[in-house]
Amino acid sequence: MKILITGGAGFVGQRIAMECLRRGELDIADKSIETIVLTDNADPPFWHDGIREDSRVTTSFGDISGNHYVQSLFNDQFDVIFHLASIVSGHGETDFDLAMRVNLDGTRYLFEQVRAQENNARVVFASSVASFGGDGMPDSIDDNTKQTPRTTYGMTKVIGELLVNDYSRKGFFDGRSARLPTVIVRPGKPNLAASSFISGLFREPLNGENGVIPVDPSLQTPVLGYRSVANGIIKLAELDPDVLGTDRAVGLPAFNVSVQEMMDALKRAAGNRHLGEHVLKRDEAIAAICESWPKHANTKRGLEMGLPMESSLDEIVTHYIEDYLDAS
Ligand SMILES: NC(=O)c1ccc[n+]([C@@H]2O[C@H](COP(=O)([O-])OP(=O)(O)OC[C@H]3O[C@@H](n4cnc5c(N)ncnc54)[C@H](O)[C@@H]3O)[C@@H](O)[C@H]2O)c1
Repeated sequence: MKILITGGAGFVGQRIAMECLRRGELDIADKSIETIVLTDNADPPFWHDGIREDSRVTTSFGDISGNHYVQSLFNDQFDVIFHLASIVSGHGETDFDLAMRVNLDGTRYLFEQVRAQENNARVVFASSVASFGGDGMPDSIDDNTKQTPRTTYGMTKVIGELLVNDYSRKGFFDGRSARLPTVIVRPGKPNLAASSFISGLFREPLNGENGVIPVDPSLQTPVLGYRSVANGIIKLAELDPDVLGTDRAVGLPAFNVSVQEMMDALKRAAGNRHLGEHVLKRDEAIAAICESWPKHANTKRGLEMGLPMESSLDEIVTHYIEDYLDAS
């Protein structure tokens, strides 16, 4: 089996690659993993140990918004494609044209190449709870809630989901969209996502630094740990198409928690470790984006499909300490 991961040098892309390498095979026609191609347009802040050293992995650097580059990736025929490359939320608000090129043009170029393979490949597109928003958004969203996002990023994710549904309906590929909640805890450095501070409120204090909170601590938002996100995206790729039906977009399970509850979980899970402080410093632009997102996600459909979630926020923090602090 050959796997392509776009955004493969990113946070979630590397976690999926690591998990695929660890498993050695996916439950798709019982095929063992021969090759994983990680494509990205930027070197990551760091590569996780073992990824690039693994003989099954190759990396390719180029811009997915360039059709020639995307075509060049398809000298190989891929069985599974995880499409994660994206301009993220905050960046999309400051550069509309870039978000359109990368998130829409890049997605279409990629999907056309997958279609041209004519092998009904499995495709998982990374969407987001940021695809919801607007005045009419209910207090709790689920997989059937109307999507009226209030960011360019969210709009591009809705279009990506609709493309996945239609390319699947036409039999061009066998697609699925994973609607990700905010993924915690991102290691390394903040990114340009408006939700970046949420990982920062765990990561920075654990590094002995201040975690800046740009929103009201009562703000509630759906979150999930990175291990469950990677495993959930892989599980979605493995699911029989009949389980998904005609709407291929599935909300990953999530904890619906306030920023304050996350700060409290950090203190509990950190035990005796020295922690930096949480500093409240409101940022109107970030707060406006985050407040436009759903506060509560009902993810019953994803749970019924067997998509995983941790048992508690504390467990997510413990994983982060094990994977990124104690391991180094
Ligand atoms: N992390 C989260 O909290 C979260 C939440 C909801 C949805 N998502 C979605 O999940 C996916 C992965 O998120 P992540 O946290 O790993 O983000 P990330 O920023 O770490 O990874 C995205 C990768 O895409 C790459 N990329 C950007 N523009 C590109 C281009 N023109 N050509 C090729 N590659 C390009 C970036 O270099 C980056 O490595 C994204 O699609 C994101 O929108 C993430």
